[in-house]
Amino acid sequence: MKSHIDELAVFGGPPLFATPRPIGQLSTPDVENYLEVLKESFDARHLTNDGPVVRKLEKKLAAFHEVSHCICLANAGLGLMMLMQLFSGGKRGEVIMPAFSYRGLPHFAQWAGQMPCFCDVDPQTHFLGVKSVEKSITERTTSILGVCNFNDPGDIDGLTRIARNHAVPVFLDSVYAVGSTYKNKILGSFTDAEVYSLHATKLLNGFEGGYITTNDDELAQKLVWQRNFTIPGLRPCTVHFESIVGINAKLNEMHAAMAILSIDMIDDIIARNFQRFDAYRRGLETISGLSLLPYSQKEKVNYQMAVVEIDDKFPLNRDQMLTLLRAEGCGISPYYSPPLHLSEHCPPGLKVSDLPTTQNLAKKYLQLPVGELVSTEDIENICQLFFFAQKWDGEISARLKRKVS
Ligand SMILES: Cc1ncc(COP(=O)(O)O)c(C=O)c1O
Repeated sequence: MKSHIDELAVFGGPPLFATPRPIGQLSTPDVENYLEVLKESFDARHLTNDGPVVRKLEKKLAAFHEVSHCICLANAGLGLMMLMQLFSGGKRGEVIMPAFSYRGLPHFAQWAGQMPCFCDVDPQTHFLGVKSVEKSITERTTSILGVCNFNDPGDIDGLTRIARNHAVPVFLDSVYAVGSTYKNKILGSFTDAEVYSLHATKLLNGFEGGYITTNDDELAQKLVWQRNFTIPGLRPCTVHFESIVGINAKLNEMHAAMAILSIDMIDDIIARNFQRFDAYRRGLETISGLSLLPYSQKEKVNYQMAVVEIDDKFPLNRDQMLTLLRAEGCGISPYYSPPLHLSEHCPPGLKVSDLPTTQNLAKKYLQLPVGELVSTEDIENICQLFFFAQKWDGEISARLKRKVS
């Protein structure tokens, strides 16, 4: 452990971690089990294009989410794009979305021929603020995208009510809420559709991949057709919809085999996530100025992330602590900061008024290393760094400022 400020890596000392500790889940199954699942597709020489393992995965995910349809895709970003395009009916318009969220969202809107319309969020759940959404709905609105965050799914009923009142399609990015519940029912069947990722850093790991869940039979048929180039001969007879733009968004068998095994491991993964979160809770609870972003007490959650709020009582601000921890080998980022409307991800020229809650939240939080490559011992060491920073009071901050100037 460090005993003097000179030993901090940011001032030239050796880093705490020689290999960086990430913020991704990165759970992997036994490789022999993986090859065994994949063998089915090799034996059938059906390697992609709706192969046997993808079909098995779709069934398994639909059962897991208690929903009628699961449509697997090459990644979640494509799923979001496809839904935005499909809901627009081919019209150029706007997709309402939170500004305190994932940087890809405004890009996906533009690929779908839409502009983002950024709204403010609820200060507790960080889900789209229902009032902010209602004020933003215009004749240009083609859909509303709510993002369920890791800490709390948010007011899904409130959002759905507004969308229905205005006859606007509504869907969810539930990437960080996989396995979580809303009103004690597992997410997957809320709103018109939900989108999930199978990226290696997420709870369910397919190397890459994604999927959409829905109870809408017609929407499911459209998506299956859309993900496979909208080939005319495969057009479902119930689809009388001229404006669907096709794409190749199919998931291949290798990725599906990996994801299938992830589903079986999910309870164990969540249990380990809880242990890591609890280690942070125990390690940081006595330090003034720090508080972990709490998880909903009402719902089942997946404990995938540990996000700490750093306030004025702590001697270093959020960005100084980020610099210090990164130098020590923590592969971390500020949480959703800068907010999308003030970032390089905002389409040039788009005018967005102030979003006070979003702007305030974006200053506060730091993501901490989590996932299978982070041990509880690593977490104890990271918490010790916070203690160390507190003990040296203003001295680290002053020296960091001198270093910058
Ligand atoms: C909230 C959210 N939505 C969507 C995505 C996109 O997922 P994918 O990498 O599968 O395209 C991500 C990726 O990190 C995300 O964090």
